[in-house]
Amino acid sequence: MSRDSRAAFVVALVVGLVLATGGNAIAAAPKQPSEPFFPRSGNRGYGVKHYDVSLGYQPRSGQLTARDVVEARATSGLRKFSLDLDGLKVTSVSVNGEGADYSRGRGKVKIVPATPIAKGEAFKVVLRYQGQPRKVIDPDESTEGWYRTPDGAVAVGEPVGTAAWLACNNAPRDKATFAIQITVPAGVMAISNGSLLSRQKVDRRVRWSWSEPTPMATYLALVDIGDGKLVQGQIGTLPTWTLIDPRLVKKSKAAINSLPEIIRFEQKIYGHYPFAAAGSVVDVANLQYALETQTRPIYAFAPDRTTVVHETAHQWFGDSVSLLRWPNIWLNEGFATWTQWYFAEQHGGRSAQSVFEELYRRPASQTHFWDPPSGHPGQAKNLFAVSTYVRGAMTLQALRDKIGTHDLLSVMKTWARQHRYGHGDIEDFIALANKMSGEHLRGFFHRWLFQRGKP
Ligand code: ARG
Ligand code: ZN
Repeated sequence: MSRDSRAAFVVALVVGLVLATGGNAIAAAPKQPSEPFFPRSGNRGYGVKHYDVSLGYQPRSGQLTARDVVEARATSGLRKFSLDLDGLKVTSVSVNGEGADYSRGRGKVKIVPATPIAKGEAFKVVLRYQGQPRKVIDPDESTEGWYRTPDGAVAVGEPVGTAAWLACNNAPRDKATFAIQITVPAGVMAISNGSLLSRQKVDRRVRWSWSEPTPMATYLALVDIGDGKLVQGQIGTLPTWTLIDPRLVKKSKAAINSLPEIIRFEQKIYGHYPFAAAGSVVDVANLQYALETQTRPIYAFAPDRTTVVHETAHQWFGDSVSLLRWPNIWLNEGFATWTQWYFAEQHGGRSAQSVFEELYRRPASQTHFWDPPSGHPGQAKNLFAVSTYVRGAMTLQALRDKIGTHDLLSVMKTWARQHRYGHGDIEDFIALANKMSGEHLRGFFHRWLFQRGKP
């Protein structure tokens, strides 16, 4: 979530947008092509099972060298295929151990294997590439990709920045397990997702080996390189690794230390924490937002507690249950924001209903949060618009008002369980809410998710 939208009341960017649908009432979610926002990202000819990537990084020069092993399975016969890679120089590609022809296209490595791959066949691609990975500027003008910091670098990838350093099938519909090795000069920390398997000296450098054995969308891959002290801990039996930039330790301690309490609370309402590791990374980077990188969110500033609640809620909603397509972003941001409201309510703060009512009553001049409707952001630049968060959370609160707290929480918990480690679509959520509440909620969801203006 962004620094600005954190409290949900603060002044936010005005998203002036006229959707093509105008004010026309539409009966259901508008028909969309399968991935309208990033049609160039990803490849449907195969699915990736595992990425094993070894990075070497020199903070001084910003030079990256990479060896990326991609284990995939063809979903159709492949005489050629592509991986997403934004910039960098590819020096070799092999497929199933045989040298392959390759060329570059905009944001792609196009590969022609020596032997075509049959439909259903498992195959392994090994790529080597190097260079200075770049920052990526998003449609909403925020920064992602590989971001250099004074003491290292931060890599964050929502929605498409991961291709700045990882040759991958860069679409959330294709989740895979990850092993990420990062070799950096001794004394520098190198953090990623999942569990730290080992830290090995290699000459005067250190190789950090991280493993995320639970399927992960590429945009949730994390690399953080820089100064600090890695703190290992435990929440019950769950191992945690946390790195806080020394400059932010004092300011972020209280919020970061409440992670155990936050995870316990969210497990209680949403079911078992989905991953085998947890933790946090706080780094000084001028990114203006935090990101729910799987198992270990990254905060590009000293977070407050509600921000930690938000990113932790994403572990269930976004990371474990992932988007099939980006226009479904409400399933991530609406859910994480509503969790902030509910957490506050249950911990002596304002009730979510009073937050809702205050927002709902606002005069039109102060309601930059209605459009675009959360279920139909319309364009990539609106993915993280204020309405995605605020109207998105209000939608769940309105649903709570309609079906009751008990039913709302059962729907959310069932959603997290049924789609665990997989994907969900807004239409599936609506169907589940209908079924579990025994009510006819289509009109309600249509008004709240898809219709422009105040519902
Ligand atoms: N998903 C992040 C959150 O927790 C926000 C990411 C924003 N990314 C961007 N490129 N604007 O809300
Ligand atoms: Zn979020």
